[in-house]
Amino acid sequence: MDDTDRQRVAGFGDLDRFEQLAASRRTSLRVDPDRLVPVALVERLCRLAAWAPNHKKNWPWRFAAFTGEGRTRLGNTIADALDPATFDKPEKIAKYRVKYLRAPMMLVVGSVAGESTIRTVENRDATSAAVQTLLLGATAAGLASFWSSSNPAADAAVAALCGWEPGTATVAVVYLGWPVETLAAPVRPAPRVAHLDA
Ligand SMILES: Cc1cc2nc3c(=O)[nH]c(=O)nc-3n(C[C@H](O)[C@H](O)[C@H](O)COP(=O)(O)O)c2cc1C
Repeated sequence: MDDTDRQRVAGFGDLDRFEQLAASRRTSLRVDPDRLVPVALVERLCRLAAWAPNHKKNWPWRFAAFTGEGRTRLGNTIADALDPATFDKPEKIAKYRVKYLRAPMMLVVGSVAGESTIRTVENRDATSAAVQTLLLGATAAGLASFWSSSNPAADAAVAALCGWEPGTATVAVVYLGWPVETLAAPVRPAPRVAHLDA
């Protein structure tokens, strides 16, 4: 967007500030592993995330916060659930046992199963919206964040560990911590937007 475009779309309430915030969020693991993230802040971010839209108002998201040795337990749970025979590089499994120690707070976000395939898909869409809301809240609070995937083969084990309903899928394993550096925004391609007026 150049300056002319910016002027053309300026003046829409808080959009400028919101855009700045959204553009400043980066997937980043450059955090201080020893500086704790207050539990009250994480709980506030989860409440913020729960403002995301969700079909049938079924509030499909589930959250579980892992700190200290809990992070190792999370990694071991995932690693133990994975079958090395299904991996090109089985050594990748071992990384799960230690990778979550890189941030002081690991927040796992799950999405419950719906009563039909479409509802399960919608639940996951809604939960993804909640994750992004949470990431933007984390950015606003000055935290660095990193949305990582788990492995679907570990979903049942993660759900059991977190005390979630059977069938709950792991949508995000979010690293949270205080940043040790600011990352520049990479060039982002403009989205393709179709306009149909007739
Ligand atoms: C559903 C989802 C899963 C992701 N899983 C991973 C992951 O497992 N490992 C990883 O390095 N990044 C993961 N990412 C982060 C993306 O790599 C990152 O968003 C992308 O590089 C763009 O960078 P930015 O978020 O700083 O704009 C994931 C993002 C999403 C939305």
